[in-house]
Amino acid sequence: MFLVNAKIARWLLRCRRTLCFSPPSGKASSSRLVLGIETSCDDTGAAVLDETGAILGESLHSQKEVHLRTGGIIPTVAQQLHRENIERVVQEALERSSVTPGQLSAVATTVKPGLALSLGIGLEFSLRFVRQHNKPFIPIHHMEAHALTVRMLQPVAFPFLVLLISGGHSLLAVARGVDDFLLLGHTLDEAPGDTLDKVARRLSLIKHPQCSTLSGGQAIELLAKDGDRTRFPLTTPMGQTYDCCFSFAGLRNQITMTIMKQEAEEGVKQGTLLTCVNDIAAATQHTIATHLAKRTHRAILFCKAKGLLQSNSPTLVVSGGVASNQYIRKALTLITEMTGLHLLCPPAKFCTDNGVMIAWNGVERLREGKGILPPNVDVCYEPKAPLGVDISAEVKAAAIRLPSVRMKIPN
Ligand code: KG4
Ligand code: ZN
Repeated sequence: MFLVNAKIARWLLRCRRTLCFSPPSGKASSSRLVLGIETSCDDTGAAVLDETGAILGESLHSQKEVHLRTGGIIPTVAQQLHRENIERVVQEALERSSVTPGQLSAVATTVKPGLALSLGIGLEFSLRFVRQHNKPFIPIHHMEAHALTVRMLQPVAFPFLVLLISGGHSLLAVARGVDDFLLLGHTLDEAPGDTLDKVARRLSLIKHPQCSTLSGGQAIELLAKDGDRTRFPLTTPMGQTYDCCFSFAGLRNQITMTIMKQEAEEGVKQGTLLTCVNDIAAATQHTIATHLAKRTHRAILFCKAKGLLQSNSPTLVVSGGVASNQYIRKALTLITEMTGLHLLCPPAKFCTDNGVMIAWNGVERLREGKGILPPNVDVCYEPKAPLGVDISAEVKAAAIRLPSVRMKIPN
């Protein structure tokens, strides 16, 4: 997609010195340094990392509270907030790391997928920055960055299976290399974080004293702790479809019907906090966790049948905002223990969006010399961009039946 022609190759050759070694002063070490910039959705993030993955400085501006008040992300509002904050956030990351723009080896920025208006701000800023300071530019795929974050924290060898679950995505893929993914399954409609956010809004959880500043997913996780997940039985989606794709829209419809029925029973209007919010939250969380676990179980069996994972230490990595959910992690633990996989989840702060994961992806690409562009190159953002080679049809054709598993997930 990002073609490196002869002109670019010559430029890269001229810049070899910058790309190879740039010892900075202050806190920074003498390895190559990458500035990462993230604006794909509602977080303006920046971070400076060295080649070992040490975070030298970072800054993050979250728009969560604004979007909670307006009842969801309004793209023009997100764009304006990115515009107002990007300069300060990048400046802060550089100052905290005691690194000057001249000492950077490259700038890595999310260019796909995401909200067009949000991506545009990060890209426009980054292109201006790399041109001004004559630095290489590394365009980043947001989901590739989520998938690779774990390797910043511990050595995880390719290939590994990865489940990425966030507000905008849900996918299962085999990570075979820094820029080499096999897509096993993806969502057919909405993403689990989107479903959780919408259910939380429909339940008016912002009015709940414990939830007013929490994202939908966080609010549901908190309330579910004191809920009875069996009181409102929900059907796990796609029980008769033997692939690794996901669907959450039908489930959200089931939950909306349940809420409407309860509003009628309690004699209250939409917008009033129901007395049974904890039970609805528990049922919602349990059904989403079960759906994610079942599709992941099938992906593991598919990978084993095709020899797609390491034979000695097969690993499942789970990341993205929804992966910070402890109940979902426990559901996945049931599956990995049963199938003999090693489960790795980055800490919550690295699961949600930030500049660190983008800078790390930049480091991984810089090390391998992959996708590094000169500052004057034209790059466009891409709101929609699948990750890797899509083999979901092959997975479906394999039609793997799951053994029956009792999803007895401890609360
Ligand atoms: O990865 P992320 O920060 O942004 C996207 O790329 O979408 O994920 C944000 C999503 C939101 O939908 C939020 O409700 C969800 O992650 N989330 C959670 C939790 N914390 C954040 N979902 C479930 N449980 C959580 N603890
Ligand atoms: Zn994300």
